[in-house]
Amino acid sequence: MRRLNVINRKHALKKVKELDAFPKVEGSYQEKTATGGGISIVVLILIVILVWSEFGYYTATELVYKYEVDSDHSSKLNINMDVTVAMRCSDVGADVLDMTGQSANTFGSLQHDDAYFELSPDQRGYFTSLQYLNDYLRTQYHAMHMFLWRSGFSGQTGTMPPREDKPTRPMDACRIHGTLTVNKVAGNLHVTVGKPIKLSSGRHAHFAGLVEQSDYNFSHRIMHFSYGSPTSGVVNPLDGEEKVTTANHHMFQYFIQVVPTEVDTALKQMSTYQYSVTESNRTIDHSSGSHGVPGIFFKYDVSFLKVKVREEHKPYWQFLVRLCGIIGGIFATSGILHTIIQFLIDVACCKYQWGKYSTPREVIGETVPVQSLATDYSPLPESAPTVNLLPPDQEAPT
Ligand SMILES: *[C@@H]1O[C@H](CO)[C@@H](O)[C@H](O)[C@H]1NC(C)=O
Ligand SMILES: *[C@@H]1O[C@H](CO)[C@@H](O)[C@H](O)[C@H]1NC(C)=O
Repeated sequence: MRRLNVINRKHALKKVKELDAFPKVEGSYQEKTATGGGISIVVLILIVILVWSEFGYYTATELVYKYEVDSDHSSKLNINMDVTVAMRCSDVGADVLDMTGQSANTFGSLQHDDAYFELSPDQRGYFTSLQYLNDYLRTQYHAMHMFLWRSGFSGQTGTMPPREDKPTRPMDACRIHGTLTVNKVAGNLHVTVGKPIKLSSGRHAHFAGLVEQSDYNFSHRIMHFSYGSPTSGVVNPLDGEEKVTTANHHMFQYFIQVVPTEVDTALKQMSTYQYSVTESNRTIDHSSGSHGVPGIFFKYDVSFLKVKVREEHKPYWQFLVRLCGIIGGIFATSGILHTIIQFLIDVACCKYQWGKYSTPREVIGETVPVQSLATDYSPLPESAPTVNLLPPDQEAPT
């Protein structure tokens, strides 16, 4: 039984040996040439370059966008704003109304700080750079926001520097800033004349009785306006907006579409909101049929679609497949190339000899005419003697 096993194993081993696709070639059959060496070096460099670039390609990531219906309707939406209006704080009020009809003061409150509308030189410089940066981000948006999301850039560009001068005139503007937490439904954040008062009917109004018509000035500057978490790599299109009007009764409207966005990259996981905006403005003049309330209106709506951004790798098994393809392919191609080049060199140098590669005839142990051994080429008579060449170990007959 044991012997049978041994025989079987030997048999199997033999079968496996027959399958060997890499038969060994004797060292003496391998000839090394200078062209072969040169091509080998080129091939090696080529392989390194190609493998390196392929490696770069496969380690690079790409942002994949997916859209799905936003099923999260219970969470709240933050509105962050920092807007300066060219009216005294005692004359203006900001608050938000949404579709739920909830009382405005349940959303939190914004800070109203007295300020100067005109910026000091330092502040103007800062604001101009903010405008410039935001403009650049908006125009380069598609290229840039990939970078922003990948790099974990916070999008926060610092704060306005304090005034370096102290004007003697009274403050003429109001900086309204802070965060409101609202329901995730459409709403209207507005800045109008007078403080908001709640009416018993559940509606609300702004009490504007004591404000002079000539004090109305809704020129404004937006330092920051965003939704969601305040630190994010999202480009806020309203940052750096500045509107100056010479009409007292002017209405500015911003129509904002808020898009929930989830970003999941190697450096950053965040759930935030992006928005797009269209704007319109007009002077209110009841006599010419342009009715409305002077003020600044941010009318927003929340998209029911959510954008999901993921950073994804290309699969590594593909990299392995391509690696094998590159290395094997280059070796095979360079082998053919080598043969062709060798042939061309031989032809060019007139060195090509047919039969160069045929092995010299074995002369030992064979009877050859003496003629072929003689040094002079004079023809020998027919009866020329022959010698019998023997292998060196055999004694020659005497
Ligand atoms: C109002 O909008 C028009 C374009 O629609 C624009 O040219 C103009 O500058 C705006 N007015 C103000 C005061 O921003
Ligand atoms: C509003 O204020 C700005 C800046 O101080 C000024 O340029 C503009 O003329 C004012 N508009 C009105 C209607 O007073």
